[in-house]
Parts: sequence; structure tokens; C-alpha cells
Amino acid sequence: MPLFTILTLFPEALEPYLEVGVLGLARRRGLVQTRLVDFRDWTRNRHRSVDDRPFGGGPGMVLRPEPIVEAIEWIEREWGPHRKLALCPSGEPFEQAHAQAWSLEERLLLLCGRYEGFDERIFWEHDIDRISIGDFVLSGGELPALCIVDAVTRLVPGALGDDRSAAEDSFQDGATLDHPHFTRPRVYRGHAVPEVLMGGDHAAIDAWRRKQAQERTSARTRPPRAGDT
Ligand SMILES: C[S@@+](CC[C@H](N)C(=O)[O-])C[C@H]1O[C@@H](n2cnc3c(N)ncnc32)[C@H](O)[C@@H]1O
Repeated sequence: MPLFTILTLFPEALEPYLEVGVLGLARRRGLVQTRLVDFRDWTRNRHRSVDDRPFGGGPGMVLRPEPIVEAIEWIEREWGPHRKLALCPSGEPFEQAHAQAWSLEERLLLLCGRYEGFDERIFWEHDIDRISIGDFVLSGGELPALCIVDAVTRLVPGALGDDRSAAEDSFQDGATLDHPHFTRPRVYRGHAVPEVLMGGDHAAIDAWRRKQAQERTSARTRPPRAGDT
């Protein structure tokens, strides 16, 4: 059963999301465990400050190394070794294949940054992988950490009502995207559900869905990025 330990300055921002939906149910069923740890508790200064000005000058504040390193060491002493991931825009892009691999880990530690990010020396002290959830910058690592916890939890056997749901999701077999879905009503604002889905011919339905998924996959193009010519 995966244990997710999340190191954050804002545990209260994470709690509500962990309570609901697939994630909430998986926790209540004991399929995954989550622990929120506030690294401010490892500060030693009078004001309990976790950040300081950057050496070399420049804007913003940087997370000091000591509370983070000491919190990591306390966590691993108490609960055992974890695979350690730091949320960083400059990290390796998070993909479904990571979620798949991490669903087999016993313990994951997610480090949520704030301000300008982490003092680099936390990466010299511990074996920590940097992970990005996309080429944009958020104010903190809490939303990226929740993305990872959610994506990994979906892949833990029993977390979804029907384990085939995850197997048929987009990216599950590489790059292939999911096919379109329809439910009631049969006609909505003049748009009818494709006839093939109404006939009960499962071979024809499978073939239609496969074709739709292939068309979507080949139609999807990477959005243009600054610097593209
Ligand atoms: C304002 S950001 C720091 C940005 C950093 N100065 C940079 O440009 O790479 C504060 C924190 O938010 C988190 N964060 C922001 N965007 C992220 C992304 N795309 N993926 C993962 N974490 C992100 C990280 O934990 C980061 O330390």
C-alpha cells in the first residue's frame, strides 16, 4: 500500500482534496495512506522562518536547507525510507509512466516548494528527483503534489470502481488517447449519440472506439512554445 508523505508549509491547503472522490475513498478503504508534514516545525530560529534572501542578490526568497533536510531525516527515521520527489518547474516532466511506476512504491515523499524554490544543497544531501507537472510556474508545489498523489492512487488496484477504467484511460498504453464518451439523453440540443453505440454490436463499438481514439491521437499537436520557429 503506497504511503504518500507530503512536506509542505500549507497542510491545510491539501487536506480538503485528499478527503474527496477516488482519493478520499481509497484512503478510507486503506488502499493508500497520506501524511502531511509541515517543515516549519523543524525551524530552529525564534521567528520560525523557513526562507531567506538569496546569496548573490536578486528578487524573492529561497527555502533554507535545514528545516527541509531535518524533516526528511525525521520522516525516514519514523516511517522508513521513501522515494523522494521535489516539485520543481525545472524538473523532469511528470507522465503517466511515472504514475504507473510509483504506484508500485511503498513510500513516496513529495516536497512542496514555495518562493523561489529550494536551496540547491538539499539535492546534494539527499537523493531527490525533481519533477515538473508542466511548463508553467505556480506559486507552490502543493497542487503539483496533489496531481501526483491523485494520478498514482488511480492506478492502485481497487481504487477505481472498475480497474478497467484506468487501463482504458489516455496515455495508459503510451501516447494513445481515450475515445469520446456519451451518456443520456440520446439527443441533446439536436446532437444525437452516434448510432453505432446504440446497436449493442460490441465488435462494431470496439472498432469505432479504436478508430476514434487513433484519430484523436494523431490529431493532437503539441501547443506552440515561445522560441518555436
Ligand atoms: C514560484 S515557484 C518557483 C519557481 C522557480 N523560481 C523557477 O523558476 O523554477 C515555487 C514552487 O512552486 C512549485 N512549482 C511551481 N510550478 C511548478 C511546476 N510546473 N511543476 C512542479 N512544481 C512547481 C515548486 O515547488 C516551486 O519550488
